[in-house]
Amino acid sequence: MHIILGGTSGLGWEMMSQIRGRGERVLVMGHNHEEQYHGEGLRVDLYDPNSVEQITNQLQDMCGDEHIDSFSWAAGYGYRGNFADQADVRSMGEVNFAGALPIAQWAWRQMIVQAKPSKFVVLGSVSGVRIRSDNAVYIATKFAQTGFARAIGAEAARLEVPVNVHLFILGGMKTPFWTGWQPGDEEYSTFNDPRKVASEIIEIVDVKESYFTETLIERGTLI
Ligand SMILES: NC(=O)c1ccc[n+]([C@@H]2O[C@H](COP(=O)([O-])OP(=O)(O)OC[C@H]3O[C@@H](n4cnc5c(N)ncnc54)[C@H](OP(=O)(O)O)[C@@H]3O)[C@@H](O)[C@H]2O)c1
Repeated sequence: MHIILGGTSGLGWEMMSQIRGRGERVLVMGHNHEEQYHGEGLRVDLYDPNSVEQITNQLQDMCGDEHIDSFSWAAGYGYRGNFADQADVRSMGEVNFAGALPIAQWAWRQMIVQAKPSKFVVLGSVSGVRIRSDNAVYIATKFAQTGFARAIGAEAARLEVPVNVHLFILGGMKTPFWTGWQPGDEEYSTFNDPRKVASEIIEIVDVKESYFTETLIERGTLI
């Protein structure tokens, strides 16, 4: 089975649709998960430590005995503006990075002891390797995610565990991420189609067998 944290919208939703489309089981997690609409999954608020703890327990009950083929980390939200003006900056730190860690750790602990190989997929951002001058906290969370992915890939190699870590460094995509603060038409028209990005990710994850891969998908390349 496949697990997608942030599989209720955007890129995660596209990955879920394509993997389910080939007949495989996918459990999705999101802040607004609805069984009727998103199918098998769980509602979690990554800002809330109690919700995160509850979810790891539920995951253990629902799929602790299942083989996990992949775990994908797609949850997050964005912001553009001055640090001084951003509301609840701690929320972004929790939702985009710290709150996801116990869930990622639950999946990792399962995956490293499995008999068959599996894939640990981190959906990062170009904001995790290059700064901008108008979203310091988002940049910080994405740099943290990049560092985590690179380090856990190195750990997989050191421990020789049967897990391939795949980091994707993504440029702009046309997803609900931008609802309410979409950039101007000229910039937005260069953003990638999340369906095409999802296909590219799934193909790379299927084919590449290595403790760690890092793939850059710039905006303007899969429109
Ligand atoms: N779109 C872009 O241009 C772009 C570019 C580079 C990188 N990225 C990164 O790609 C990833 C996916 O983004 P997307 O474009 O697919 O955005 P999206 O459509 O807004 O999806 C974001 C996902 O994160 C979940 N999420 C948000 N807040 C949450 C919370 N408090 N608790 C639990 N889940 C929460 C959402 O759940 P609900 O929908 O259920 O609330 C949704 O499943 C993000 O990490 C983003 O930083 C996006």
